[in-house]
Formats: sequence, C-alpha cells, structure tokens
Amino acid sequence: MIRFVLDGEVIEVADAAPTDTLLDHLRYRLRRTGTKEGCAEGDCGACTVVVGELDGDAVKWRAVNACILFLPMVDGKAVATVESLSRNGALHPVQRAIADGHGSQCGFCTPGFVMSLYGRSIGALGTEGTPVRDVIAGNLCRCTGYGPILAAGEANPPQPADDRETAAVLRSIAPLRSGPGWFAPRTSDELAALLLEHPDARIVAGATDVGLWVTKGLRDLGTTIFIGDIADLRGIDEDGDAVTIGAAVRYSEAKQALAALHRDLGELVRRIGGLQVRNAGTIGGNIANGSPIGDMPPALIALGAELVLRRGGERRAMPLERFFLAYGKQDRQPGEFVERVRIPRPRASTRIRIAKLSKRFDSDISAVCGAFAIRLEEGRVVEARVAFGGMAGIPARAPACEAALTGKPWCEATFAEAAAALAEDYRPLSDLRGSAAYRLTVAANLVRSLGLERENLFDV
Ligand SMILES: Cc1cc2nc3c(=O)[nH]c(=O)nc-3n(C[C@H](O)[C@H](O)[C@H](O)COP(=O)(O)OP(=O)(O)OC[C@H]3O[C@@H](n4cnc5c(N)ncnc54)[C@H](O)[C@@H]3O)c2cc1C
Ligand code: FES
Ligand code: FES
Repeated sequence: MIRFVLDGEVIEVADAAPTDTLLDHLRYRLRRTGTKEGCAEGDCGACTVVVGELDGDAVKWRAVNACILFLPMVDGKAVATVESLSRNGALHPVQRAIADGHGSQCGFCTPGFVMSLYGRSIGALGTEGTPVRDVIAGNLCRCTGYGPILAAGEANPPQPADDRETAAVLRSIAPLRSGPGWFAPRTSDELAALLLEHPDARIVAGATDVGLWVTKGLRDLGTTIFIGDIADLRGIDEDGDAVTIGAAVRYSEAKQALAALHRDLGELVRRIGGLQVRNAGTIGGNIANGSPIGDMPPALIALGAELVLRRGGERRAMPLERFFLAYGKQDRQPGEFVERVRIPRPRASTRIRIAKLSKRFDSDISAVCGAFAIRLEEGRVVEARVAFGGMAGIPARAPACEAALTGKPWCEATFAEAAAALAEDYRPLSDLRGSAAYRLTVAANLVRSLGLERENLFDV
C-alpha cells in the first residue's frame, strides 16, 4: 500500500505496483482528467503536476512529469494537480492570466503549462532565479504560440505558499517503504543490504530513463528498488578540493554547485531535458545508465571525476571513464550501486569548455557532447583531458587528440592537429541525431574553435 496527500486528503492505494504511473492513477482511478497524456515519455509536459515533500516544517515542491513517475515514488508525499488550483471555485491567477491573455487554444497543453507556472508561483524546485522561458521549456504547445503563456508567467511572480495544512497531513503519514515487488529504503545501509538479498533488482532513482522502458518499451522491471528518498544519497559535500554529489541528487538540486565549479557545467545542466526532467532525474542515474549520449559523463570525465560504487559494506572508487566498458556494459557487479561522484575543483591554470550540440536548444538529446579540460603552464599545454559523448558506443576520452595537444603552445596550428587526431580516436555511428561524418566534422570543429577562443576560455 502507498499513501499520498491530495488537496489535504490522504489517498491510499492498496495495490500499487512498481510500474503503475502517477498519471494513470490520477486519470483512471481518481478521475483527475485535467492532467493530460501527450507523449508518455517526459517530452511534452502535458502531464505536469507538482509533488511536495516535507523539508523541516515546510513543504518543498517540484514540478514533474506524472507520465514517467511511478506511484511508489509519491508514497508519503503530497501531489497537486490542475484541479487543486481552483478548488474554491475561482481560477488561480496563473489560469486567469492565461485565459485573459488568450494563452489557450485547443487547451490540451494548458493544464501542463498552468502547473509549471504554478510551480514557479510557489517557488518550487529549480524556479528560483530561473527565467519563465526556462521554467516552461519542458512544455510544448502546438497551437497557441508561447507569447501569451510567457506573459501569464511574468504576471505571476513567486509568492510563498501557506503549506501548514499540507505539512501537518504529511507528518501524519510516514512512508511505508515497501509493497508487492518493490522496496523504498530510507538509508544507503538498507539499500546495500537489500541489494545483497536481491542482486538483480532494478534500481530506480528519478525514473526519467526507466520510465520510458515501461511506457514505451512495455518492460517488466521485476523487483524494483526506489532510491530517490535515501537521505544519505542526497547530499552535496563541498570542500576546497572537490564537490561530491550523492547518487540520488536531482539535477535541479545540484545545478548551483555544478555551475559554481564552472559556468559551462551549469549551462549543460540547464540543457538537460526540461525542468520537470531535471526535477526528477539524477546524475547518478545518468552515469549508471551508461548511455553513449548521456550529457554528464563526458563533462565529468574531462574534469577528472571519480566514481564510488558500493556493494554490501565494500566500496571501490575508479576514474569515471573506467566505468564504461562497452555499449550497454558498465563495470558494476550484481548487488552493487553507484554511491557518489567526486568532482575535483579545476585548477586556476586549467581552461575548460563543455559544448552540447543538439537539433533543438531546449529539451533535446545531444548528437555530440564535447568536454575539454586543458592545463597550461607558461603558455604550453601540460595536461589535456578531452572526452566526447555521441562519438562511440560509450562516453570516452580522446587519447590521440590529447597527445596532439600535450606539450604544445596554445595556437590554431596545435588545435588543427588535435582536431585531425580525433579520426584515430573515434568511429562514430550514423543515426537519427547525426551521421558519422557530421559527428566527426562538428567534433573536429569544436576542437579547432578552442585554438581561436583562448581569450574567452580565460574568462571563467
Ligand atoms: C524528456 C527527457 C529528456 C532528457 N534529456 C536528457 C538530456 O538532455 N541529456 C541527458 O544526458 N539525458 C537526458 N535524459 C535522460 C535522463 O533524464 C537522464 O539519463 C537522467 O540522468 C537519468 O536519471 P534518473 O535518476 O531518472 O535514472 P533512472 O531512470 O532512475 O535510472 C537510469 C538507470 O540507472 C540505474 N541507476 C540509477 N541510479 C543508480 C544507482 N545509484 N546505482 C546503480 N544504478 C542506478 C537504473 O537502474 C537504470 O538502469 C532525458 C530524459 C527524458 C525523459
Ligand atoms: S505526457 Fe508528455 S511529458 Fe508526460
Ligand atoms: S493550446 Fe493546443 S496544444 Fe497548446
């Protein structure tokens, strides 16, 4: 059984299966049909709801895509849908502004936009200091045009919400931690023990990859372990040497610390999915998934990140690049899990560039993602770490390119040679995101552009 709070009322679901989605439950069981299904894969935002959890005495809300959120993931949490906003019979100011500004035509996308803008109006995760256009970049409208919707957002600045009633109800329902076919441990020790008992269980963090295996691939996950609520995997530790990020930290929670490491890293996070995806997805999941086009691995490999894995009481650490063995194969043993990633602070003498190339700027997967960390002493390259996503079956370093840079002065000729060396490093595939020739050409152009951009790179 799971319990969650909806408009002050506790909803109990006796038979929550690990892969039942929140969207289906809202629409088919609770008849909350305002929340729409557009794509069922986290792209369109028509299913946006806000989910809240206790944060001390307050409730911390975040907008998420209900289509790829599994019901056990809202156990012990609060949910608000578009119907929640007009319970007193009057439209919420965001809805009023959209209606008055003609921001809705067929109306299918409207509840999703309303919930994203409502999230901003209550200061939900990832909205603080975020321009309205970034808040709604994960919502698609095929008919109205975005102008009136943006205006509705601008007209409703954030105001603290009074969550005392929700917080009181949340305090009365401790999460239940398990159900048929699933577990939701609360500590990493519990997780480690559970994984020894069920070494082949499927770990689910934010479900922004796994959700699609279910909604699009119709896969059965088997025994499932939800790790999103493990407090000691949700920490970000910063010291003078490094930033260490727990495996269950969501992108929106890590963005500030990553942006402080380097502005390109913050920009890269801004371009991962839409806000709803960043409010659910984790860096640990991005790494563990091992996709050749995941965005964080090339950036973190270039920065020299170290991955820590745990099995039972044993831990092992490795340079992140060694985790990726071959397409779909990572160096993770049964019963082992990703615990954290440690990212060293770049030295003052290191120049960094991270570039994501995709067909759309917002909410799109990379065709190529290139990352460079190049250390200079007296005008010469003394260390070069170059990594690419989208160029091989795994995110991988570029040894020939790195060798062509090392020991050389920072000039156009050096980078032209290093660009040519990429052909030794990678044999990219052709697919819907780009041909092999396109990928090699743009990757080489990225390298070449560094030779021209030295002044910009100094301004970090
Ligand atoms: C609309 C949309 C847009 C997206 N855009 C981008 C993008 O721009 N760039 C990008 O890189 N990705 C993108 N993604 C993919 C996805 O959001 C990321 O890969 C995300 O980081 C996955 O994290 P998660 O917590 O949701 O992982 P989950 O889906 O929960 O898990 C992913 C995999 O990792 C495993 N896993 C998770 N945590 C651990 C752990 N601690 N230890 C061991 N195994 C673990 C799971 O078993 C599973 O195999 C997008 C996804 C969607 C739906
Ligand atoms: S239905 Fe499109 S994001 Fe959920
Ligand atoms: S109003 Fe029709 S999809 Fe947005």
